Amino acid sequence: MYVAAGTTRVGESGRPITSSNGSFMASVASLSASLQQRVSAALAAAVPSATGADPLLRRSDRADFQANGVLGLAKKAKANPRELAGAVVTALPADELIAEVEVSGPGFLNITVSDAAIVGTLAARAADDRLGVPLKDAPGTTVVDYAQPNVAKEMHVGHLRSSVIGDALCKVLEFGGEQVVRRHHIGDWGTQFGMLVQYLIEHPHELDHAADEKDAGEASMSRLDRLYKASGALFKSDEAFKERARRRVVDLQAGDPETLALWQRFVDESKIYFDSVYRKLDIEIRDEDIVGESGYNDMLAETCDLLEKSGVAVWSNGALCVFFDDVKGKDGEPVPLIVRKTDGGYGYAATDLSAIRNRTGELHADTLLYVVDVRQTLHFRMVFETARRAGWLTDDVTARHLPFGTLLGKDGKPFKTRAGESVKLEDLLDEAVQRATAVVREKGEKIGLTEDEIRTNGEQVGIGAVKYADLSTSLGKDYVFDLDRMVSLNGDTSVYIQYAYARTRSIFRKAAEGQRPAAHPELALEPSERALGLHLDAFAETLAEVAEVYEPHRLASYLFQLASLFTTFYEQCPVLTAEGGPAQVENRLFLCELTARTLRQGLSLLGIRTPERL
Ligand code: ARG
Repeated sequence: MYVAAGTTRVGESGRPITSSNGSFMASVASLSASLQQRVSAALAAAVPSATGADPLLRRSDRADFQANGVLGLAKKAKANPRELAGAVVTALPADELIAEVEVSGPGFLNITVSDAAIVGTLAARAADDRLGVPLKDAPGTTVVDYAQPNVAKEMHVGHLRSSVIGDALCKVLEFGGEQVVRRHHIGDWGTQFGMLVQYLIEHPHELDHAADEKDAGEASMSRLDRLYKASGALFKSDEAFKERARRRVVDLQAGDPETLALWQRFVDESKIYFDSVYRKLDIEIRDEDIVGESGYNDMLAETCDLLEKSGVAVWSNGALCVFFDDVKGKDGEPVPLIVRKTDGGYGYAATDLSAIRNRTGELHADTLLYVVDVRQTLHFRMVFETARRAGWLTDDVTARHLPFGTLLGKDGKPFKTRAGESVKLEDLLDEAVQRATAVVREKGEKIGLTEDEIRTNGEQVGIGAVKYADLSTSLGKDYVFDLDRMVSLNGDTSVYIQYAYARTRSIFRKAAEGQRPAAHPELALEPSERALGLHLDAFAETLAEVAEVYEPHRLASYLFQLASLFTTFYEQCPVLTAEGGPAQVENRLFLCELTARTLRQGLSLLGIRTPERL
């Protein structure tokens, strides 16, 4: 049975599901979920002991789906698998969902669903704002720690990856109904600020703004950079300054108002710079979500106290340390997590432990995610383990470091400029936009885009390309930053997907008066229509998977496949001039429209825009 458009369904909890605007939402059962349910029931009917067993239903090339579960069950029941498969087929209900079932090989079931069921299910998706994607039944609270650059320092490509991946994860989780708390754990605390503040006290005009500044972000960064270098040089060469800087750190940590006010100027100046990079990246960072290392300053002493009193941490060589049986250095000596340093200062670990206390204790999170590069793996392992021992992470809280790999240059080495310096994030984004604009211009001039459109599209394609290259690689892997490949119209790129989207829009612009999308379940489908339809139906399941395993590349690859299937459909099935007459035109327009909405929704969850004309 398929659900006709407009049917109200009830959620798992039995209450009707309403969307934010109050209209009823169809939480649509996918074809594979409906099939799963029928095949399970048939299995149970054929072998009562198999009640609840998984029929192992998969998409397949031979038919639409293949169920492989019979084999294992036959083995357990000591029955002939082909006979058992036959019995399952007999037990399957005769309804509109299944068009054909065939027993193949040693006892696989090849299942073809009906064209009517495909179109009917898609119609139910189309009738819903959310494309039939259900909201989680029991949403929890997830804190996502991502996009954490450092104050007074240039952002680098590692910050790019964390920002892009974290932003996509937040969006996908939120779309599924999860309560998401974003946390930008920026590096805004530590001994270097003693030096910077002291320098500023002695050179008070160094952070003054020039009257009308063209590029505020870049100007801010170069001021900070100059200050950083100058104060660092002085710190090295001048013992007396060094001493004044050290005392300044103590004032800072003690919360001396004058020192704090100057420190705040560094933070504010840096935020101007971060803002300009994030605007370019098309990622929204809200001020209230920026809770950097300094935000936990008031908790640090208590965190150390609690660790010491509970015996989780011990003093060793003047430092407060946590030891682990399985963490040893090359020399076989244990490597501790240092929460308080010999000089009395609190380090990175103390801040992270305090942040955990805040996130579980105050924010009541049940999941903590950290989108941070792979080199910090050991740090997080030790921090989580310490928090567990201290009771700040309990069994019902999941803490996960989602490590990502390194961005490589074409030479396969970590991305560097020709001069061997690490690449500025802004330069990289500017270059991507430039390249993309050239690609957009070539096509755009033919279809009559204005200069404004070319510029906007160039930005959306260029930034999309950078994000997509990042998101389409599985997290842990390193990948090569290759702009030529990234903005190519052929291959696994965002432009390819954006182009498929723009094509759907162009079909609608060309449609004649009265040519409108409408679902026609009574029509027979072409193979490329079926393939497209079956894939469209899998959107909700893909999103659920991404939210479950925190792997945005699964959504990227779903969308690339969708664009490819659409391209094949478009090549094989004329839309506006369909030979089957007006009903077929409507049905194909319906497929185009649902494809467009799915591409748009999917790309937007990845933080990628969809230009209307390309
Ligand atoms: N600011 C750090 C860096 O640039 C990343 C912070 C990661 N988050 C955390 N909770 N430690 O490397």
